[in-house]
Amino acid sequence: MNKLSRNDVCWCGSGKKYKKCHMDQDVFISNIEEKVGYTIPRDIMKTQEQIEGIRKSCKLTHDVLDIVSERIKVGVTTEEINTWVHEYTVEHNAYPAPLGYGGFPKSVCTSINDVICHGIPCETVLKDGDIVNVDVSCILDGYYGDASRMYIIGEGSKASVDLVRVSKECLDLGIEQVKPFNTLGDIGNAIQQHAESLGYSVVYDYGGHGVGLEFHEEPFVAHIGKKGEGTILLPNMTFTIEPMINIGSPDTRVLDDDWTAVTTDGSLSSQWEHTILVTQTGYEILT
Ligand code: MF3
Ligand code: CO
Repeated sequence: MNKLSRNDVCWCGSGKKYKKCHMDQDVFISNIEEKVGYTIPRDIMKTQEQIEGIRKSCKLTHDVLDIVSERIKVGVTTEEINTWVHEYTVEHNAYPAPLGYGGFPKSVCTSINDVICHGIPCETVLKDGDIVNVDVSCILDGYYGDASRMYIIGEGSKASVDLVRVSKECLDLGIEQVKPFNTLGDIGNAIQQHAESLGYSVVYDYGGHGVGLEFHEEPFVAHIGKKGEGTILLPNMTFTIEPMINIGSPDTRVLDDDWTAVTTDGSLSSQWEHTILVTQTGYEILT
């Protein structure tokens, strides 16, 4: 533990005295650590300054998705969506996090029908009945925001409409579990219970992640799990929840482009994502 005394400047960068800042929280966490028997890494908790930066980046991510929501329709190509996202992001002095990330060639992920995630924008035309996930991530002043939404193009089948609705419910139920001293297992469990009780499956090969100072930080956020298990949630953590829910098998396969992840049985997949801040009493949806 740190050896700060009451009147020292707090470790968090606020410039305030320790006793007026993080001291009470640190004592509280030390007590929890004694109970659980392991050290909770303090660096997964962001400072107020970092949170302000992440909040701005997440607001931009939200706004980019609003632009997509306004314009997406039958006949649009995923390349056009890429152009909207790229241009709006750079016009707002930000950079699209996917572009060049691990060699990813575009500024947004567009995942249609049986594509689970990481679809690459191209000349494919959206047609009536498609379901598509648009996954936007911004870097603004060095801070990251990450969110995705589903769109039903034209008239969706009942199966698609139900899947898209249930996957959104899964995200919302996962978010409701976010509060200090709940665990990642509580989040995964809420998502898994809801999806499986309605006959859907939860993708386990991909998950959410810490986000904010980097695109992908610790911890890995599984969308399956057991209540009370896994990493303890602490105030000022920021991470994504982004459940991928399938109609058929949860198994995944990556295409020859080395990115596009599809269901192995060709069944539909749906995903919604938010960046979440753990507050003192619960959560704030940043995107
Ligand atoms: N935005 C995705 C996520 O939710 C990650 C995309 S990685 C990329 O984590 F390189 F494909 F963009
Ligand atoms: Co993400």
